[in-house]
Amino acid sequence: MLEGKTALVTGASRGIGRAIALELAEKGAYVIVNYNGSGEAAREVVRTIEASGGQAEAYQCNVADYAACERLIGDVMASQGSIDILVNNAGITRDNLLMRMSEEDFDAVVSTNLKGAFHTMRLVSRHMLKQKRGRIINMASVVGVAGNAGQVNYAASKAGVIGMTKSAAKELASRGITVNAVAPGFIETDMTGKLSEKVREQAAAQIPMGGFGRPEDVAKAVGFLASDEAGYITGQVLHVDGGMVM
Ligand code: NAI
Repeated sequence: MLEGKTALVTGASRGIGRAIALELAEKGAYVIVNYNGSGEAAREVVRTIEASGGQAEAYQCNVADYAACERLIGDVMASQGSIDILVNNAGITRDNLLMRMSEEDFDAVVSTNLKGAFHTMRLVSRHMLKQKRGRIINMASVVGVAGNAGQVNYAASKAGVIGMTKSAAKELASRGITVNAVAPGFIETDMTGKLSEKVREQAAAQIPMGGFGRPEDVAKAVGFLASDEAGYITGQVLHVDGGMVM
C-alpha cells in the first residue's frame, strides 16, 4: 500500500495516465495529476479520486519545458515534502514515413517523450537520493523494442526511454531507488483511437491474446512497480502487450 506517499504522474488527464493516477490513489498515494492542455479533464480525474476517498491535485506543466518542470517539482516538494513515486507517462505521436517526416515532428515527439522524462527524472532524483528511497516508472512502448513503420520518431523516443531507464537504474540502485519501464502494446485510448479500422484489425491479428488492452492493464503493472513489494526489481522493461512482442 502507498499511504503517506506522494506520486507524480505526468500526462494524467486521460488514457493510461488517468488509469495510473486512479490506481495509485486507490493504493493510498497522494497523486499529482499533471496535464498540459486539458485542465478540465485533469480536474475531473481529481474529483473521481476524491469521490472514492483518495487525495489528489491537478497541476499544469508541459514536460518538454525544463523550467516548467523545475517549478512543478519545486512546488510539489514545498507542499508535500517528498516525491516518492514518479511516473513519466506523458507522450505524443506524430506519425509519418521516414521520407516524409519533418524535423519538427521528430523534435516534438523526442522533446515530449524522451526529454520530458529526462527533465523530471533529473529533478526528482535529487530529492529521492536525499530520501534514500523512490520509485521511477517510465512509459516506453513495444515499438521502442521492435520498431514500427511510420513511427521513426516515436520508436526512437521510446528506445531512448528504455536506455535512459537502465542507465538511471544503475546510477540510483545503491540508494534504494528503482527505475523501471513499462512497455504497453496496443491499448484502447485516444492515441490508438486515431488508427483506421484496417490498422486496428492488422494489429489485433499480431496479438496472441487477440485484442487491445485496457488502460487499467497498464496501471496495474505500474501500481506493482511502485509498491514496496517490487523493491528488488530495477532496470527492467515490463511488457503489457497480450504477448505481442516476446
Ligand atoms: P493519450 O494521448 O490518451 O494521453 C497522453 C497524455 O499525455 C494526455 O493526458 C496528454 O495531455 C499528456 N501530454 C501530452 N503531451 C504532454 C506534455 N508536453 N506535457 C504534459 N502532458 C502531456 O495517450 P495514452 O495512449 O494514454 O498514452 C500514454 C503513454 O503510454 C504515452 O507515453 C504513450 O506513448 C504510451 N503508450 C501508449 C500505447 C497505446 O496503445 N495507447 C502503447 C504504448 C505506449
